[in-house]
Amino acid sequence: MTRVLVVTPTYNERESLPVAYERLRAAVPSADWLVVDDGSPDGTGDIADAWAAEDDAVHVLHRTGKLGLGTAYIAGFRWAIDRGYDVVVEMDADGSHRPEDLPRLLAALDDPAVDGVVGSRWIPGGRVVNWPWNREVLSRGANVYARLAIGMPIHDATGGFRAYRTKIIAALDLDAIDSRGYSFQVDMTWRIIRGGGHLVEVPITFVEREVGESKMSGSIIREAFVKVAVWGAQHRTEQVRGLLKKSAGKSAEAPADVS
Ligand code: GDD
Ligand code: MN
Repeated sequence: MTRVLVVTPTYNERESLPVAYERLRAAVPSADWLVVDDGSPDGTGDIADAWAAEDDAVHVLHRTGKLGLGTAYIAGFRWAIDRGYDVVVEMDADGSHRPEDLPRLLAALDDPAVDGVVGSRWIPGGRVVNWPWNREVLSRGANVYARLAIGMPIHDATGGFRAYRTKIIAALDLDAIDSRGYSFQVDMTWRIIRGGGHLVEVPITFVEREVGESKMSGSIIREAFVKVAVWGAQHRTEQVRGLLKKSAGKSAEAPADVS
């Protein structure tokens, strides 16, 4: 049987988390759940601890302060690798990632050629509900930008509802991933693809949260913008180097008496 761990990072989600808990346990009862809480001042971590005391499928990792979505997921990935899970899922706490869509994401992993599944808002069948227009513009823009800057083949590279085979995560150099905020999703996508991993997209409906607040901020946007530009420049440099090598190789093969 496939062992699945759902990782949910939380920061001040005391109102959202109980709903996510009920829905996830109902939608995928066989999955274990790891909440990675960054010392939420609103007591989210205590709520999760109370469930963990009663429900063997629930686990909690407490961190000391708000250290960012990216590092929370990396801590969760390591936890999954150490405990031998086959699949690790990324899911937000606020209901935007519908637990009811998770069986469809997991089903895509039935194909042994697939290493990871990205829940996608920006492919046919995918959509967003109740998102303010500026968030939609930001997300669509970020994905167009990633496509132009680095040739990103995934349509929703910033999306955070995903299922990975643990072995593809374990093959990455997790220490080298320094994206703290939402650029982490682009970072993961790009590393897996460059490493030869096979990602597929499955359409999802992203429903904007009804309670609590988004942690998106100007500094998170700036981090993503700068990082994608750097990765794009690196990628283009490598492409040009590759071309130069190729043509140098060709001229070396050419007969010596051309002069
Ligand atoms: N532990 C921890 N630490 N959790 C965090 C932190 C942090 O620093 N920042 C955010 N989170 C948690 C939130 O509590 C929530 O469960 C999840 O991460 C997503 O945060 P939101 O603030 O709700 O994100 P969003 O709705 O604005 O953004 C969504 O769209 C982004 C862009 O497409 C998410 O799906 C992101 O994953 C996605 O990149
Ligand atoms: Mn959200």
